[in-house]
Amino acid sequence: MIDRFGRSISYLRISVTDLCNLRCRYCMPEEGICKKEHQQMLSEEEMVTAVQAAASLGISKVRITGGEPLIKNNIVSICRNISEIEGIQEVCVTTNGLLLPELAGPLVEAGVQRVNLSLDTLDPEKFGYITRRGSLEQFWKGFNAALEAGFRKIKLNTVLIGGFNDTEIRELSELTLKYPVDVRFIELMPMAGSREFGAEAFIPYSRVLEEMKEAEPVPYDHSVAKLYRLPGAKGNIGLISPVSAHFCGDCNRIRLTADGKIKPCLHSSDEYSLKGLSLEGMREVLEKAILAKPGWHGELDAVHRSRAGRFMNQIGG
Ligand code: GTP
Ligand code: 5AD
Ligand code: SF4
Repeated sequence: MIDRFGRSISYLRISVTDLCNLRCRYCMPEEGICKKEHQQMLSEEEMVTAVQAAASLGISKVRITGGEPLIKNNIVSICRNISEIEGIQEVCVTTNGLLLPELAGPLVEAGVQRVNLSLDTLDPEKFGYITRRGSLEQFWKGFNAALEAGFRKIKLNTVLIGGFNDTEIRELSELTLKYPVDVRFIELMPMAGSREFGAEAFIPYSRVLEEMKEAEPVPYDHSVAKLYRLPGAKGNIGLISPVSAHFCGDCNRIRLTADGKIKPCLHSSDEYSLKGLSLEGMREVLEKAILAKPGWHGELDAVHRSRAGRFMNQIGG
């Protein structure tokens, strides 16, 4: 479906749970978030119906996010059912990777074609600090399981944080020399969860290019990242710049939260509920939501904070 600004909306991101086995500092509070009643959340059947409705409006790509999607005990079945829906050409997952040793194989078998994994540092102590409870060793086990499972593509997501990982830009970028993966640096978005970071934490993507002068531009692949490549690398370096150079003009996505709300824009509190609706009802609401999608998310920086009205774990990025 085409929105009011001529953008073709073909990508649905579904946050299947807002719960997580980590507590990344830029994403959610240490104590977690107030757990909602089970009946307020979408059932697996409702998620599948929502994707059927979305597919009938031209959605062809679905990304499963969280919280941490892999902690949901029916995750493999959700992915399989969604990948079998007519019109859905690509099912992808964004995860912190910790549960991939058990789940990478079953996910590939269920039709998941690509995974994106979060990795903010290569230092075990700093990994423990930023995730408040994760172990880097566990991450690498998940990463290796993903490499072996046969996903079509693996991307690593690094949230760029001044004073935390800006000294690791080269080391992280050079993972693309060793592994057939993309490493993407994401500018820290000023969400509720990232409040504890000072203004100096918001560093622009251009810092990566200053450090990695030998990286050559790669043609645009219609994703949110500007792509570069190191000589001899097996994967790309991606730069995602929601703050310093927003990409709203090309935005092709809508989001569905675990409690059944369609968010036409990540940084707007406008939400449209699908909970309890029939396929036809969901289709009508989806149409309304797509037509209400704003042209851009408005000013976003350390002063102008996101108006998403939720923590990132309740949206899924
Ligand atoms: P690909 O399908 O591989 O292109 O993945 P993706 O970049 O769409 O998804 P992923 O979940 O890996 O998200 C990477 C980062 O981009 C996260 O920090 C997201 O919050 C951010 N992001 C994704 N979509 C948008 C968007 O529409 N607007 C903004 N501001 N950020 C986004
Ligand atoms: N700014 C930028 N990226 C974020 N993510 C979570 N919170 C933020 C934030 N405040 C990223 C995670 C994950 C993806 C889904 O979103 O690192 O890779
Ligand atoms: Fe969990 Fe991902 Fe948020 Fe980290 S960024 S707390 S792994 S949902």
